[in-house]
Amino acid sequence: MTRCILAVETSCDETAAALLFDGRIVAETVHTQTDLHSYYGGVVPELASRDHVAHVGAVCQNVLTGYEDKVELIAATRGPGLIGGLLVGLQWAKGYAFGRGLPFVGVHHLAGHLAAPLLDPDFDMDPPMICLLISGGHTQIYAIERWGEARLLGGTRDDAAGEAFDKGARLLGLGYPGGPAIQNAAAMHQGPHKQLPRPMLKRGLEMSFSGLKTALRDEIYRRDVNAQLDTDQQTELAASLQSAIVDVLVHKACAALKETGYNRLTIGGGVAANGPLREALQTAAHQENFSLYLPPKKWCTDNAAMIAAAAAIRYQTKGADAFDIPAKARWPLVEEWAIQSAN
Ligand code: KG4
Ligand code: ZN
Repeated sequence: MTRCILAVETSCDETAAALLFDGRIVAETVHTQTDLHSYYGGVVPELASRDHVAHVGAVCQNVLTGYEDKVELIAATRGPGLIGGLLVGLQWAKGYAFGRGLPFVGVHHLAGHLAAPLLDPDFDMDPPMICLLISGGHTQIYAIERWGEARLLGGTRDDAAGEAFDKGARLLGLGYPGGPAIQNAAAMHQGPHKQLPRPMLKRGLEMSFSGLKTALRDEIYRRDVNAQLDTDQQTELAASLQSAIVDVLVHKACAALKETGYNRLTIGGGVAANGPLREALQTAAHQENFSLYLPPKKWCTDNAAMIAAAAAIRYQTKGADAFDIPAKARWPLVEEWAIQSAN
């Protein structure tokens, strides 16, 4: 078993590095670019790449301190994500591995989100299990059959859940990133709120969030033709949006458990940090009698610790990568975590 792994994550707007030793995180650093992009209301890929270049070396050096002689495997996110950012982390990791004569692996970003629970010493679930993967770019439900093998059960047809939070926050003038902004605004609202639609509740494990954004926009303009809402209206509609997204996600996660007959659920991705969603899942787990694991919030949003966890699985099952592997902006997880055998 590989005892010491350095992992780098640069697929979006976080430059992150982590050091895994004997399966536990001993150091991790996340440099977030939120301030850089907030003026634009979303991630500007060119600015993101440049900022990754500026920070990747220091971020890696930081976690390597004291472990330079112990590190045995170098990992970086290979995709999916913004190509410019991916190239920065991947190339840094390849260069470091080459210079040190160490093996290198390119890791699937979503495999990282799925593997994040393994970082927690108290995590005691074994596959098979369901993972609700809810991030800014993806909203998908996977059946994890074994670590390193997953089936895609369903997902969004259009916007991801995180995108719905981000676009909703922009419409409400609440800023970026939208998820925490909506959660904070919604928490300030007391009493009933406008009910927004719960799209595709009866369509198996398919989801759609773009109509929700349209419904929110219509409601904003119905209240004020110039979309200038007061704070009470902003917080009320933030609560409306959040509860619609949470309801759909909880409903779909429960449907996936019923469809497969599995009774274990984990969640991953930035939206998994949402407080009301976590509470609603806990209630559902209690009512429907399934086991639920909620990863610590710092391992839900993008981080390199989860990439190290996925790298350990990747290296154990498939070995090292060659130094000529390219970054992949698009890359279905099932290509990487393909089912090896029926059981
Ligand atoms: O996994 P992640 O950090 O990056 C991607 O791989 O996309 O997810 C980012 C997404 C953003 O859309 C952000 O608004 C959302 O996660 N997010 C949240 C919360 N924290 C982050 N959404 C709802 N509630 C939160 N507390
Ligand atoms: Zn992510």
